[in-house]
Amino acid sequence: MRSPKDFFRPLALGAPQPVREIPFRPSRALHFFDPGNPKMAAKVPDLAGQVDVLVGNLEDAVPADRKEAARAGLVQIGKSTEFGQAQLWTRMNSLDSPWALDDLLTLVPEIGDKLDVVIVPKVEGAQDIHYVDRLLAQLEAKAGLQRPILVHAILETATGVANVEEIAAASPRMQGMSLGPADLAASRRMKTTRVGGGHPGYLVRTDPVGEDITVGRQTFQQDLWHYTVARMVDACAANGILPYYGPFGDIRDTVGCEDQFRNAFLLGCVGAWSLHPAQIKIAKKVFSPAPEDVAWARRVIREMGDGTGTVMIDGKMQDDATVKQCRVVAELADQLAA
Ligand code: GLV
Ligand code: MG
Repeated sequence: MRSPKDFFRPLALGAPQPVREIPFRPSRALHFFDPGNPKMAAKVPDLAGQVDVLVGNLEDAVPADRKEAARAGLVQIGKSTEFGQAQLWTRMNSLDSPWALDDLLTLVPEIGDKLDVVIVPKVEGAQDIHYVDRLLAQLEAKAGLQRPILVHAILETATGVANVEEIAAASPRMQGMSLGPADLAASRRMKTTRVGGGHPGYLVRTDPVGEDITVGRQTFQQDLWHYTVARMVDACAANGILPYYGPFGDIRDTVGCEDQFRNAFLLGCVGAWSLHPAQIKIAKKVFSPAPEDVAWARRVIREMGDGTGTVMIDGKMQDDATVKQCRVVAELADQLAA
């Protein structure tokens, strides 16, 4: 069996070496914009001060006859914008489209020094990542780039979910992975017609209380995405890369959006997409640990001393394993505050 390393051979032209250790940079809100839309493009400099990541979207939602304009717009924005602390990512077109190769051939030489991450949509297996990885290595070497562009996969086909572990392990260039609930729903032949979020029909009902099965029963809506997010989180954690919830399409439903993002945060995700400025605030809030949780985590760490054994705090038992959980929360708070 070939290891992922066999597929990643840096070119002998001084090409930068992708690193496995991803230095921490906040990525709570991945804010999508259409770089070919002049109104949206004009807002990018302002948004750079508000979001962790700006994603110039070239794929779905950009009409076929505006693909070139979007790509050209992204080049223009990449060259002319001061991004400060924000990262610039792009979602390229999918590898089965006529635009994917041109996306990479244009973006790497033109703005490769500004691009932190390329999001690859509809990834089905390790072979898709290997293809992008090798192309990036060639183009980076040709452009003399000193820093590798990282790769982020969208998990949005049934085959991709079946191969999630090999995708996460496919290259040292892998930065992370997002759930793509809209395409995934179609690929799985789910019967939803929305972009992410829940569905009122996907529920459990409490048992009947008496003879009349219509009386006194409560229903609870279930999370359609729990299984996939959990699989994605495990694959990412096992390979040292970062998991993200993807889009939440009902922009008006800020409450549902916050709930969906929070479920993802609690399960291990580090961020989510924002499709509208209203969702930036939600993502930044949800994916930053709450002050009271941080205070509790620090208290447990303090009272646990060398981190072994047990202590009782407010009637709750703490031990080696709870202190590890508390370190995750406290470290994230420290990283975000730095
Ligand atoms: C995102 O691309 C999705 O399909 O949900
Ligand atoms: Mg999609």
